[in-house]
Amino acid sequence: MKKTHSIPLIFLGLGNIGGTLLRQILETRETVAERAGLRLIPVAVADVSGLLYAADGLPEATLHAALAATQGGGTLAALPDLHPLAYLPTVLQPGAILADLTASPKTTPTLRAALDAGCSVALANKIPLAGPWAEARPFLSHPRLRYEVTVGAGLPVIETLHYLRDTGDRVTAIEGCVSGTLGYLCAELERGVLYSQAVAQARARGYTEPDPRDDLSGKDVARKALILARTAGWPLEEGDLTVEPLYTAALAGLAVADFMAATTALDADYAARVAAAQAAGRVLRYVARVTPEGGTVGLTAVERDGALGALRGPANYIAVHTTRYDALPLALAGPGAGREVTAAGVLGDIIKLAHTGQTA
Ligand SMILES: NC(=O)c1ccc[n+]([C@@H]2O[C@H](COP(=O)([O-])OP(=O)(O)OC[C@H]3O[C@@H](n4cnc5c(N)ncnc54)[C@H](OP(=O)(O)O)[C@@H]3O)[C@@H](O)[C@H]2O)c1
Repeated sequence: MKKTHSIPLIFLGLGNIGGTLLRQILETRETVAERAGLRLIPVAVADVSGLLYAADGLPEATLHAALAATQGGGTLAALPDLHPLAYLPTVLQPGAILADLTASPKTTPTLRAALDAGCSVALANKIPLAGPWAEARPFLSHPRLRYEVTVGAGLPVIETLHYLRDTGDRVTAIEGCVSGTLGYLCAELERGVLYSQAVAQARARGYTEPDPRDDLSGKDVARKALILARTAGWPLEEGDLTVEPLYTAALAGLAVADFMAATTALDADYAARVAAAQAAGRVLRYVARVTPEGGTVGLTAVERDGALGALRGPANYIAVHTTRYDALPLALAGPGAGREVTAAGVLGDIIKLAHTGQTA
């Protein structure tokens, strides 16, 4: 039997992605040991309520109990032997891999401590990479940190940008649709559904955050646009992007229920924009576009028969224009969200980090 290396894993976050990743790791153990020569051993799992830890690996029964406690929307709080989150720094050890599967701005100091302690880091969390450049840069350039799923979920977008740069190509522009939620909304508007109804449906189906403005604000797409730009080698800041929210300033300060009721006020405007685009043979898509100078994020009338116009529902599409891919861009398309593809993307990062650690 092939020699296997044991890699301790630390999970920050056990929600949709963290839970799915833990399940995938348990299910793929034999394949990963056989094919990659790695034994991935969860030693710590954490959510906001605290941390379960066992230096030699958490027993399988404990991992299943953690999944049972969290995957219905609950937390680890009721499980025995839960340590406070403040205990986390003491479990960091060289050679371990920490996965940030939260959407929290609070994990940044832990990520720095983990890298300083000799751990590797895999991020699903965009926030550490999309703040001020000076804070994000050490993460983006760190050889022991990967962040593939932060844009396009399981699509190999980040790896492709690194490959282009490593092989001497020069990226000149990146454009695409990188929000499944806003892709769904555009498709519904195109079908003639009113804006207020499309937003209500997206919320009812769980496609948006509980406050749909978290998606409609364009902030999440702007974060992805910044990550793309920075990965291409351009040190853009949030202020270099012009972002169009999909609601007016008058609706920004309302409570969620009042916002939902007030969305009907925007129905006529969005219907008119859809009609104007259609009259010109175009369709509306929520497009991010970045160049070395800056970028735009917003509703754009694109050619109906072009790659962006042909997108259906929550699909993502990312086109990279470079010196070599000039006349025709290098393009990636596919689902840009979903638990299984996203968790698998993080698992792919973990396996690559584990191999890097062995050769470092
Ligand atoms: N869903 C997708 O398709 C997709 C695709 C690409 C990227 N992502 C990214 O993946 C990340 C996770 O998404 P999700 O849908 O799994 O979110 P989620 O279901 O809300 O889960 C977040 C988890 O993080 C935990 N958490 C929050 N702050 C924490 C902290 N400071 N320390 C430790 N744990 C903390 C939460 O604990 P509590 O439950 O105790 O609050 C929860 O377990 C997000 O950044 C998201 O943008 C998601």
